[in-house]
Amino acid sequence: MGWKGILGFDYGIVLAPMGHDIAGPELVAAVANAGGLGLLHAPEWESPELMKELIRKTRKLTDKPFGVGVLLPFPHKENIKAILEEKVAVLQVFWGDCSREFVLEAHNAGVKVVPQVGSVEEVKKVIDAGVDAIILQGYEAGGHVIGLDGLISLLPRVVDVIGDRDIPVIAAGGIVDARGYVAALALGAKGICMGTSMSMASSNIFPSSALSLMLSNGIPVRC
Ligand SMILES: Cc1cc2nc3c(=O)[nH]c(=O)nc-3n(C[C@H](O)[C@H](O)[C@H](O)COP(=O)(O)O)c2cc1C
Repeated sequence: MGWKGILGFDYGIVLAPMGHDIAGPELVAAVANAGGLGLLHAPEWESPELMKELIRKTRKLTDKPFGVGVLLPFPHKENIKAILEEKVAVLQVFWGDCSREFVLEAHNAGVKVVPQVGSVEEVKKVIDAGVDAIILQGYEAGGHVIGLDGLISLLPRVVDVIGDRDIPVIAAGGIVDARGYVAALALGAKGICMGTSMSMASSNIFPSSALSLMLSNGIPVRC
């Protein structure tokens, strides 16, 4: 157990790729500058120009590496081409098929692939595809959710399946502070991914009524 970084980053703390009004260049660069892995959110429509613009805007704010998250059920081929051309450090994917060919294409461009998954079955598939790390999402997670099991029961099972392979598991779901980070490490994770709590740092996207509800009750926002 330790607070070591993952995938070449100083710390194992990941900013979830929430809508690009939340996980936009400013927040992603702030996380990158602090030594974590910030994930930009790719547009949910084909817009390679906007994708490149977001990446370049982020690069103006940080000289540290960062990544981009893509929701695979939405049109994404041109966006992914732009991401690989820009050679960001990490391509995160969610809700779709992360095949061996897909991973190979990214690796050939020098980009690491990190799918977000929510079950042991999905983990087995992405191990075979050759991914560099996984984000394991528990049911507690806010936003877009695939996990049906609670993180505390799912995480040790997944860590056992990964075994001694060099595939760090990044725990996601309901982690808001150092206690949650330590608990995830104790269960075998190497890092954590936070959405809801990080979104509160993104100033003006929530009405103040929603923000105070979240702050007082720790309620995750589901989309
Ligand atoms: C507002 C919001 C939007 C999200 N959008 C995405 C997304 O587009 N892609 C994705 O992979 N995960 C998304 N997530 C889920 C996160 O990746 C992560 O699993 C989750 O935030 C972790 O749980 P937490 O919210 O309790 O920290 C989103 C989460 C939130 C809160």
